[in-house]
Amino acid sequence: MLGRAAVVDGIGGYVPPELVTNDDLAQRLDTSDAWIRSRTGIAERYVVSPGTATSDLAVEAGLRALKSAGDGRVDAVVLATTTPDQPCPGTAPQVAARLGLGQVAAFDVAAVCSGFLYGLAAASGLIAANIADRVLLIAADAFTTIVNPADRTTAVIFADGAGAVVLRAGAASEAGALGPLVLGSDGELSHLIEVPAGGSRQRSAGPPADPDDQYFRMLGRDTYRHAVERMTSASTQAAELAGWRLDDIDRFAAHQANARILTSVAERLAVPAERQLSNIEQVGNTGAASIPLLLAQAASDGRLRAGHRVLLTAFGGGLSWGATTLVWPEVHSV
Ligand code: UT7
Repeated sequence: MLGRAAVVDGIGGYVPPELVTNDDLAQRLDTSDAWIRSRTGIAERYVVSPGTATSDLAVEAGLRALKSAGDGRVDAVVLATTTPDQPCPGTAPQVAARLGLGQVAAFDVAAVCSGFLYGLAAASGLIAANIADRVLLIAADAFTTIVNPADRTTAVIFADGAGAVVLRAGAASEAGALGPLVLGSDGELSHLIEVPAGGSRQRSAGPPADPDDQYFRMLGRDTYRHAVERMTSASTQAAELAGWRLDDIDRFAAHQANARILTSVAERLAVPAERQLSNIEQVGNTGAASIPLLLAQAASDGRLRAGHRVLLTAFGGGLSWGATTLVWPEVHSV
């Protein structure tokens, strides 16, 4: 591989303090702990309290990643999110300012649950093009602020959190260097995951006829099928491009969409259970944040260790998907 590689130099994760169990949800929705556990693998999740925004989660995860890197300087901040603090401006500049990073390049990436993979591509590009030597990539979502609290098909899955990595310029041969990135999209299927109102199409047409159009909506069953297919094929391609056999993978870190989806993808890739990383049971589906939050937790509790060959894959609205590989470096999650 030519040019400068992006190398993971720090990692951090954060969830807000308010815990919501399945039984809490069952008190206000026509659902049950048994249904949620068996259909999604989720037992509990953390949610923002009133007044807390995505930037608040992003700053916490960003602080931890910078501390983990042991070097507070970066030249750019990339924030992957579906729940920016406001429609305009982007949230990344405020996060950069609150982290005391000065007047660095800062922008948001909108790729829903694939945001971390797309963010890795953006950050790698900044490094490869000599625009930045060090990039803070944060993936943060306060999904509970856009989910319809009365919609049991989404309210039981989505939750809030943030994860972040510091990437530095380095060599492709180093531990921590990102391998080839596979990215894709299918806008023909954008209706499977959407917030219909709030953008230029609705605003130019006038107020939404249906107040529920302001909320996140997902056609679960179709989304499920595409998630399995796309994460399987993107993972296969990324491993192939990296020159890895599938049984070389020590740790499989997929977007925590649904435990059944993760099991299906892992089965298709023949990744045994002990090599799969998961935290969906404790944190639910945290959107773009899910992969870096999982990596941060796994690095901190020892499930993920230096030298592990890791495969990352994500899938989300757009539709969008992605995958990449890396050998986990000596970084400490704080
Ligand atoms: O993060 C990015 C992308 N997102 C995903 O990848 C998520 C993909 N989809 C899913 O995870 C699953 O499709 C869901 C968890 C959303 C739903 O699970 P499912 O096994 O696909 O259920 P379903 O939609 O086929 O519904 C089965 C039944 C239905 O009842 P009937 O029609 O069989 O009588 C639903 O009305 O379960 C019912 N149902 C519920 N029941 C209790 C749906 N949600 C609930 C609920 N509690 N929360």
